[in-house]
Amino acid sequence: MRLVSSKLWLGTAAAVCVVAAAATAVAWSSQQRSEQVAHAITGGNPTHGPDLLRRYGCGGCHTIPGVPGADGQVGPPLAGLLHRVYIGGVAINSADNLVQWIVAPQQLSPNSVMPATGISEAEARDVAAYLYSR
Ligand code: HEC
Repeated sequence: MRLVSSKLWLGTAAAVCVVAAAATAVAWSSQQRSEQVAHAITGGNPTHGPDLLRRYGCGGCHTIPGVPGADGQVGPPLAGLLHRVYIGGVAINSADNLVQWIVAPQQLSPNSVMPATGISEAEARDVAAYLYSR
């Protein structure tokens, strides 16, 4: 009886492991797919995003998924940017407008309080790719 129940327990544990591994694989591949889509849309490299977002201080004003310490509350959270209709409430959400916004927000919205941080256009493209993949 004891043997049976411990076998049952082992079987259950093994099944749980298989399900967990499968869930991890699905999550991993869907993140990979998001990054490929974001790269195709922007031409940027999303893997550079977190370093650049840290270097240019974006996280001091924005909460940004996947960037530890980026928990600012000054501007809107930058999660799910791919699904927004407008950037900064003024420009249609396109890769070029997002890059332009990140480099020079006042060119799209003269009264915006978001500062130009000195980030280059190529770097902003990587940041845009990262934000579209999240
Ligand atoms: C000093 C604070 C501050 C810093 C630093 C800052 N932002 Fe912003 N950001 C804002 C504010 C405030 C807004 C909302 C402005 C508006 O709508 O006019 C905003 C808006 C945005 C938007 C549009 C969001 C939306 O929902 O439409 C994006 C994208 C963005 N910022 C990205 C960045 C990136 C990338 C950096 C770093 C290179 C950065 N920001 C640095 C304050 C900041």
